[in-house]
Amino acid sequence: MKYGFVGEKTACGFLPQIHEKLSNFEYENVAVKKGEFADIVARKDFSGLNIGEEFAGVADKYLSDTDEHAAELGFVDTVTQRGGRLYGFNTSFGAFCGLVAHSEIEIKSRAVLVIGNGALAKVVAAACASLGAEKIMTAANFDDAKKYASAEMIVNTSDGEKQGKTLDISSFKSLCGVLETSALPLRSRLISDAEKAKIACESGLYMLVRQAVLSHEIFTGDKVRYGETERIYSEILRASENIVLIGMPGCGKSVVGNTVSSMLGRRFIDVDSVIEEKYGSVSYIFKEKGEDFFRDVEQKTIADVARETGVVIAVGGGAVTRRQNVDALRSNGKLFFIDRSPELISLSRSEPLASSRLASMALFGQRYSVYRDVADVRVDGDESIKDVANSIIMKFRRVGADGKLRVLIINGPNLNLLGIREPDIYGRETYSDLCARVSAHAEKLGIKLEIFQSNHEGAIVDKIQQSMGTVDAIIINPAGYTHTSVAIPDAIKAVGIPTIEMHLSKVDEREEYRRINYVREACFDTVSGMGGDGYLEALDRLKKKFG
Ligand code: DQA
Repeated sequence: MKYGFVGEKTACGFLPQIHEKLSNFEYENVAVKKGEFADIVARKDFSGLNIGEEFAGVADKYLSDTDEHAAELGFVDTVTQRGGRLYGFNTSFGAFCGLVAHSEIEIKSRAVLVIGNGALAKVVAAACASLGAEKIMTAANFDDAKKYASAEMIVNTSDGEKQGKTLDISSFKSLCGVLETSALPLRSRLISDAEKAKIACESGLYMLVRQAVLSHEIFTGDKVRYGETERIYSEILRASENIVLIGMPGCGKSVVGNTVSSMLGRRFIDVDSVIEEKYGSVSYIFKEKGEDFFRDVEQKTIADVARETGVVIAVGGGAVTRRQNVDALRSNGKLFFIDRSPELISLSRSEPLASSRLASMALFGQRYSVYRDVADVRVDGDESIKDVANSIIMKFRRVGADGKLRVLIINGPNLNLLGIREPDIYGRETYSDLCARVSAHAEKLGIKLEIFQSNHEGAIVDKIQQSMGTVDAIIINPAGYTHTSVAIPDAIKAVGIPTIEMHLSKVDEREEYRRINYVREACFDTVSGMGGDGYLEALDRLKKKFG
């Protein structure tokens, strides 16, 4: 082995993928027993190792030197060999600080509860202290954690959920942030609960990528370009998250699922087909063994299937009526509800609970609110299969891990002078009042918004280029550059981000020279002549189109 991770259990499968993206060296995941690990280190037949926290301290006596953090924290998690000598480093401290920065969660002056009793929990506690936490509490496990209800931040380093435990965060009344250090599942129950309670949170995938980047720098001596961590993180997240299709029997989950998988080159798993391969047809199981038996089999199958990553999954219509199924499916996936009108739902005689139009309508009435409730995203299911599939892919490709639509508003020259500038044409509302109104509307729609203004064409081009991979859509009022700039539409086309052109005035009905418009052909829609309200209209249109 040249490079790899060594632990009692193999580390998460993402590590080789991350290292492959960083360089062309091979990176292995190896599971060994404690005694064997010391032998591996002593034999020195590797170039670089990452070490599981259960082996903290074991490698130390073979090292010629350790870096400052590793010595101070007592946890060498990375070893590299140079000229026949071994050197130890700690990368988890820096990687955790990276996770905090990425999450935008404030640790300073907060009471932080660190859960876990391993070497990583100590590193995290030390990192929180250096980030200015006011108080640090430590709990060995979820049971112990309940005692620290005053915590404002929770960082979980334990594998409590893998042991079937849960932590009820509703008893932490001052909680305003939750972080996980583990990368898999992509969304633990803890994170999922925090999301539901609208508490800022972040899973451990970013930390894993950051740690791999820091290790790569140690192994190779090369500096990794700024921004690589973010890029690799987004790529891995996007490639790993499952697309889970839910909805009424007959709403098209299987055909849409097949279409989405072939469009994305992903494997498609139809849970009912998996069940049928083992137990016979669904209608037969219902008839011979009853619904409860079927639901139990379904729950077991979903628990297995939901552990996969990077696949498209379709589940039977009733699957989401069990909370355990929803939790399992959400742990690595996003739930897309195919919302098809009851009169368009196709009927099948073999469908146990919805074989007639009346039965299907009644089931629709019972289940509609459940689908709406558990879904991360709703898609209009009345369109053609291709359109429904496209809309799912579009919504899935959101750049943000929180699933929120990210929109950038770009305002061109002289718009900063709104209120003063030709008020009869552009209105009396000042630029800052307009921005506040637009931001409040975005917030109401659940859109993450950034507003940028510049009087310089080049700065606008730069901003469009920088938005690649960080925003889902752009609203641009290029102002005077609408009629002169080729570089701005070129940039919009280059980044391929869906863009709406926006003007306060009825730009096409004014002077002749304003009819020359170079930007329009790069945009998929135009709003004009609505004054400042046009920005709200553009946000509404984006919300409707991209969810
Ligand atoms: C404008 C229209 C442009 O013609 C003009 O140069 C602007 C503002 C509008 O919002 O109506 O500056 O884009």
